[in-house]
Amino acid sequence: MTHAIELLPELLINQIAAGEVVERPASAVKELVENSLDAGATEIGIELVEGGVKRIRVADNGAGIPQAQLALAVARHATSKIRSLDDLERVASMGFRGEALASLGAISRLTLTSRRIDDAHAFRLQVLGGEVGAIEPAALAVGTVVEAEDLFFNTPARRKFLKTEGTEFGHADDAATRIAIAFPGVAVSLTHNGRRIWSHPVQSADVRVMAIMGDEFAGSSVLIDAQQPAFGISGFIALPRYSRAGRDQQYVFVNGRFVRDKLLQHAIREAYADVLHHQRQPAYSLFLSISPDLVDVNVHPAKAEVRFRDSRGVHQFVFHALNKALSQSSANISTPTADPTQYASPRAAGEGWQLTLPASQARWGASSPPGAAAVAGGFARQPAMAGEPDRFYEVLRGATAGEALLQQVSDTGLPPLGYALAQLHGIYVLAQNAAGLVLVDMHAAHERILYEKFKNQVDSGTTASQPLLAPIAFALSQRERTLLDENRALLAGLGFEFGDLSPNEIAIRAVPAMLDRREPRDLLRELVVDLAEHGASRAAEQRRDGVLSTMACHAAVRANRQLAIPEMNALLRQMEDTERSGQCNHGRPTWYQFAMSDLDRLFMRGR
Ligand SMILES: Nc1ncnc2c1ncn2[C@@H]1O[C@H](COP(=O)(O)OP(=O)(O)OP(=O)(O)O)[C@@H](O)[C@H]1O
Ligand SMILES: [Mg+2]
Repeated sequence: MTHAIELLPELLINQIAAGEVVERPASAVKELVENSLDAGATEIGIELVEGGVKRIRVADNGAGIPQAQLALAVARHATSKIRSLDDLERVASMGFRGEALASLGAISRLTLTSRRIDDAHAFRLQVLGGEVGAIEPAALAVGTVVEAEDLFFNTPARRKFLKTEGTEFGHADDAATRIAIAFPGVAVSLTHNGRRIWSHPVQSADVRVMAIMGDEFAGSSVLIDAQQPAFGISGFIALPRYSRAGRDQQYVFVNGRFVRDKLLQHAIREAYADVLHHQRQPAYSLFLSISPDLVDVNVHPAKAEVRFRDSRGVHQFVFHALNKALSQSSANISTPTADPTQYASPRAAGEGWQLTLPASQARWGASSPPGAAAVAGGFARQPAMAGEPDRFYEVLRGATAGEALLQQVSDTGLPPLGYALAQLHGIYVLAQNAAGLVLVDMHAAHERILYEKFKNQVDSGTTASQPLLAPIAFALSQRERTLLDENRALLAGLGFEFGDLSPNEIAIRAVPAMLDRREPRDLLRELVVDLAEHGASRAAEQRRDGVLSTMACHAAVRANRQLAIPEMNALLRQMEDTERSGQCNHGRPTWYQFAMSDLDRLFMRGR
């Protein structure tokens, strides 16, 4: 049956709109806190009961709402924030639609209490399922309190979609946390069922970020700070050694607004492509600032997405800022700034040895020169990590052989990674530098060196082919054959040459000279497996890097190969000259610094 066309009742209109604006308690929290920020609040208290379904209360010390405008505040399409399309196109406030309170009023029991600085007392207005009540006097300090109770009480279909109390609270906590990261100048607290969950005082930006991201992130992250006339980016990104299984620590803000933007995510992912295992997730908190007229925030009902006028420019800018920081953090090790105060004191005995940069000392941001893509010097920021005390003692025993060396080399003459002392169990190289002890995973380090070298050779077109004296027969399946054929140009470019023997056998005639006459059959097998697994899904350049990475791993020095001291020193010198040498191709760390002060603390010397 159909009806004649009629205008919908106001309540129903608002309930339909509310479906887009308020999906669950978390979205209500976001809207209310954003209103508090727009009102200039410096203190915001969020209280939830039963995951926010029973009750959400947001109190702020902002400018308040004049008595005469209380009713308008809960009316649809009523806003104090924009007046024209022009305003919309350069909007700097969080809100601009004039929909949030009207939507909440339509699907909850809403109470709005507010007092301006000149008011003798506060005023209160209630909205019950869209019915706006009378304005009454109330008691409140300057500011605004919004309470929304029994969310979706009159829209049962929507209410059915709510998850458990714990899940809804989790989402609300996330929403509040995102805002807290972006507004360190505002004190924010969160309470659930009467219990204080967290509370942040007014803080500096880096202290707030570290308080939320945690000590481990603080000890493994670098500062990003790059500015251009049109846009700037700042924040912190984790070094690859601190990666995560999930996307839970990925925060991107555009002009203070948390967004899930595919373009920005892609640029960030690309910057990590070379240093992070593809199954791991990077952690970051990044703030993009951009002139409001170069970004459209009005493209998503919950404002979770934005559109950039110059999307290519933004992508490149973000990619380069991060890529530079990630390569410098590991390659730029020429300015040792061994500052023992940057390390936390070791935890109590038995808890394991861990050196991290506590949030309270996360102050490198403030001291770094502006615009210098300020990555702190590699030494101080390469804290010793994991490992039980036992393993550490083992390392130290090997290190005593360095006494003689110490006398030979004056402090000033020491290269950043110092000189090799010994090899440990065929896996680690121990070295002594100005700061103390350096521990290197020789395979991982060599792998990165070769990978970067191979890439440079390919980029500069200086790859060479090494003909084999006797061609090697290589049997392969139909599928592998197809893969090889599809990637023939890529492999030929690197120096591989094949001839046909039969439909399922080829002859390898030449291999890349950079492979240094290694047994090529295993490598080719690995390459084929790798191409089969990822080849089709990758762009040409990524596929090439994948091949180079496999080649580097194949050619890198294997565990248990005894290295002579000069060979170890050569490895250290190459690491110093190689970009991104702090991580292997799979994103694992290649070396750690143990400063003398750390060792002294371990032995409780000087106490
Ligand atoms: N906490 C607050 N303090 C002061 N004024 C407020 C507060 N919350 C709401 N207001 C006023 O009420 C108006 C309506 O708020 P509402 O959230 O519905 O719309 P908006 O913020 O303008 O736009 P949007 O729908 O995009 O959030 C605001 O424009 C503002 O003037
Ligand atoms: Mg609003």
